[in-house]
Amino acid sequence: MLLNNKYDLGFFPTPIHALSKLSLKHPDFNLFIKRDDLTGLAGGGNKTRKLEYLVQDALNNNCDLILTAGAQQSNHCRQTAAACSIAGLECHLLLGGAEPEIYEGNLLLSYILGAKIHFTGEDRKGEGLESLKTKLEKKGNRCYIIPYGGSNITGALGFVNAIKELKYQLIKQNINIDYIFFASSSGGTQAGMILGSDLFDLDVELYPINIDKEENMGSSTENNILNIINDGKKILNIKKDYQLKDISLIRDYDKAGYGNVTEEEINAIKELATNEGIIIDPVYTARAFNGMLDHLNKKKLKPKSNILFWHTGGFPSIFNYADKLKYK
Ligand SMILES: Cc1ncc(COP(=O)(O)O)c(C=O)c1O
Repeated sequence: MLLNNKYDLGFFPTPIHALSKLSLKHPDFNLFIKRDDLTGLAGGGNKTRKLEYLVQDALNNNCDLILTAGAQQSNHCRQTAAACSIAGLECHLLLGGAEPEIYEGNLLLSYILGAKIHFTGEDRKGEGLESLKTKLEKKGNRCYIIPYGGSNITGALGFVNAIKELKYQLIKQNINIDYIFFASSSGGTQAGMILGSDLFDLDVELYPINIDKEENMGSSTENNILNIINDGKKILNIKKDYQLKDISLIRDYDKAGYGNVTEEEINAIKELATNEGIIIDPVYTARAFNGMLDHLNKKKLKPKSNILFWHTGGFPSIFNYADKLKYK
């Protein structure tokens, strides 16, 4: 089956466990966490799931080189570099901004993992991928482009499969989940979760917290998600009409802009770390966790409901925000 056609890169299923101390602090709710920070692959994270399908596709197409793009602290780029090392592929990363004097966090790891890094100034969403591909192909490489965030239907299959994994895990652990909170940015994770929920009949409300308020090369995240879903429904044989109005993104927590860490993210990191001993990242998961805490504090969810926070990883970028995170 389509979902089995993947290159093994991680450790699955990732654990689900209760957030016991935080549940005591919010007695109206039962809180759980799914630990995609523990997927392995050079520090873990949600991109491991997407890369299993993308790397397999690159190999199926006899490619010897992968190109992708992101911010300097991109978890996606760090994990792509690791996946390429494992699969024996050359890796080229187009990273926004100018080359810093000292490499830190994910940028340092991408470098250590052997990626060839190109700094692309204002562009951080893959604007230069096609032209670099043309250049490299002239030199004789067979190139495979992974779009920004790994967000196309091939990558999103990782999260279709993740919902299958979740469904069986919830049955086995005898847990019912009412809501899933997670960080949504380039949209592939969310698209995969929507398709997976319909394919595997998972009756859960998704609460995707939007991370990046900017569009991706002229297209809104909602549009990108809808496009991926429409590509997916064909290959997964899902008979449902999806429309833009069905794609929800919670845009209440993205005002500071992508990568700008505020007191809210810092407090969210501190809250999870000091109560549960779990580290989240400043850019994605802290923004999403803050969104979830805000929903709990304002009692925006059904009382007595069971809530899952999907930890999508990303902790290495914390080392790039040391100045903001050191508590006084
Ligand atoms: C740690 C982390 N969480 C969540 C996301 C969002 O995933 P997606 O881009 O599929 O929406 C990313 C994307 O880079 C990420 O690195």
